[in-house]
Amino acid sequence: MTKTSMRAIDALEEAQRIAFAPFVFQAVVSLRKLGVFDFIFKHRRKGGVSIEDISNELGITDYGIGVLLEIAESSKIVCQNEAGNYELTTIGYYLNFNETVNVNVNFTNEVCYKGLFHLDEAITTGKPSGLKELGDWPTIYEGLSKLEPQQQKAWFDFDHHYSDDIFSDALTILFEKERKSIFDIGANTGKFTINCCKYNDQVKITMVDLPQQLNIAKKNVAQEGFEDRVTTHGIDWLSENPQLPKGADTYWLCQFLDCFSIAEIEKILRTCTESMNENSELIIIETYTDRQRFDNTKFILEATSLYFTALANGNSKMYKAEEVLGAAKVAGLSLKEDRALGEYHTMFTFSKS
Ligand SMILES: C[S@@+](CC[C@H](N)C(=O)[O-])C[C@H]1O[C@@H](n2cnc3c(N)ncnc32)[C@H](O)[C@@H]1O
Repeated sequence: MTKTSMRAIDALEEAQRIAFAPFVFQAVVSLRKLGVFDFIFKHRRKGGVSIEDISNELGITDYGIGVLLEIAESSKIVCQNEAGNYELTTIGYYLNFNETVNVNVNFTNEVCYKGLFHLDEAITTGKPSGLKELGDWPTIYEGLSKLEPQQQKAWFDFDHHYSDDIFSDALTILFEKERKSIFDIGANTGKFTINCCKYNDQVKITMVDLPQQLNIAKKNVAQEGFEDRVTTHGIDWLSENPQLPKGADTYWLCQFLDCFSIAEIEKILRTCTESMNENSELIIIETYTDRQRFDNTKFILEATSLYFTALANGNSKMYKAEEVLGAAKVAGLSLKEDRALGEYHTMFTFSKS
């Protein structure tokens, strides 16, 4: 963005909105939790609702509803019609009903809100200083299986939301070729592995992840009845000398490399390259900040980077495509295919150079 001129009064208003942004955010969370947005929406065709209507229906004081709606109105989330009754604006509608916004609000509130208070410390130390608000682990990944149910749900909903939608297109592309063995690196809950087994009844998959995460993934795979085609390989990529077994035909890294710094990505990809044979393919699927069509998705990715800084590991982010391509080159991979996938993702296919 280039510097544009702005009237002082407008700049001051923007600055004040930022100064009180957490207040607006928590007001939105409260309006959602207390059912106020739902109630207003339900009465949209009946001329809106008054504070008294909301108060009587939801059993909240006029005072409570009043303070929340005042700031919501100033923030263009609700408006009053000619009769003085409240209606949702389009922003209010999205805050309550848009799936991506919902996932982001829950993730921000349940996982990130308290930890972000320690962002400056995380920046200066290079450590996820906010993680102590969730638990005592070196990175969030060791703690995923131990988060409180609400936090865990918000984390997995956020993670799955940005990958579930591409699985179907990705599987079609993936099985344009015969695939006998896939390493699902960063298998998480085993969702992709399960989808793969459903899509193709021959393929064998090795789920690669931290041992504690694999326990969850293994349970999910067994529930679907695929344990005969799925094995696991426990690994900590941050350990001294991580090892992969040799020779899968496909190495699948979906929304995984953003959990690591560029130096760590080079190490992971080099380990993969050493395990690959000359016919193997390595596929990286990521959401890159410089490959987004809309400003709002670029903004989501930039915010997600701060989650990595303050809470996840202190040293990773959502990257530009060029940064990951550079690391792949250093690791001895050559790019064979570069294609867009769904609304946000890019799929790179590499072979060993
Ligand atoms: C964002 S999730 C991957 C999501 C999944 N591949 C998908 O497409 O939805 C990142 C995964 O990397 C794993 N991970 C993070 N740090 C790791 C480490 N040091 N060693 C091994 N796995 C790690 C996490 O346990 C998690 O399952």
